Amino acid sequence: MATKEPIFFIHLTDIHISAPGKKPLFGLDMSDKLRAACTDIRSLETKSSFVVISGDLTHDGDLEDYRFLRKLLDEEEALLGIPIHVALGNHDFREPFREGFLEEEPSNESYYYSFMADGLRIVMLNTQVPGTHGGRLDDVQLAWLKQVLAEPAPSGTIIVHHHPVVKTPTVLMDDHLLENPQDLARVIDGSDVIGLLSGHIHYHNVGTLNGILCAAADGLAFGLDPSASTNMRFIDRSGYNLITVKNGQMSVQPMTLPGEQRLLYELNVSKIHAEA
Ligand SMILES: [Fe+2]
Ligand SMILES: [Fe+2]
Repeated sequence: MATKEPIFFIHLTDIHISAPGKKPLFGLDMSDKLRAACTDIRSLETKSSFVVISGDLTHDGDLEDYRFLRKLLDEEEALLGIPIHVALGNHDFREPFREGFLEEEPSNESYYYSFMADGLRIVMLNTQVPGTHGGRLDDVQLAWLKQVLAEPAPSGTIIVHHHPVVKTPTVLMDDHLLENPQDLARVIDGSDVIGLLSGHIHYHNVGTLNGILCAAADGLAFGLDPSASTNMRFIDRSGYNLITVKNGQMSVQPMTLPGEQRLLYELNVSKIHAEA
């Protein structure tokens, strides 16, 4: 597992796009945030080979949102000159995604696949559990992943998935983690996997799963305050990760876009739990 030239790519997450005409979330236009991030990516001296987005593609998951997202990503792909690959998050819905974005027959099957870029294999998984905000990898996907990983890729494999596996600084976000990281760890043990990239928690977080580097990227649509212990604090902040793969190692450069960093909304989680 080695590569002479580094491979660069962009990891975006939680873009929470809504079709025009809907009431904007926090009064913000998330499509403007996506365009601003792509403009920033175009200005980087480091030229990336592709972009991955690790879920929460839309906020409501309606058919019109996915049709709009298709148009928006087509425009940005053309401007960037590199492909954009997407995975699903808990705010996504598989049937309208397939119909509106993929322009396929609607189906509720998990959406997962892999692709190769310059000898690097990227596996896009579907951790979303329909009808909930939780994340879990089903047995069918884990069996498929095991089969994919049976043959090593020249520059290794990176897995992209929505729900992260690394514990966050406060207990507030513990129930946002992948429910069965041990199953994922068992499948990737001894394989060529060099990194795991996720989102969902809307702030940067870095750790390991059985010694493999795991990085959650900041939300692009909005950020959350990682230090909050009782209330979820939504912040007007946007970031993404610039990923480098060289000599079988993944490294992560967090990027922050200029923004107001102001508090948008505060959600009293303990009150919600008490009422549940
Ligand atoms: Fe999200
Ligand atoms: Fe999410």
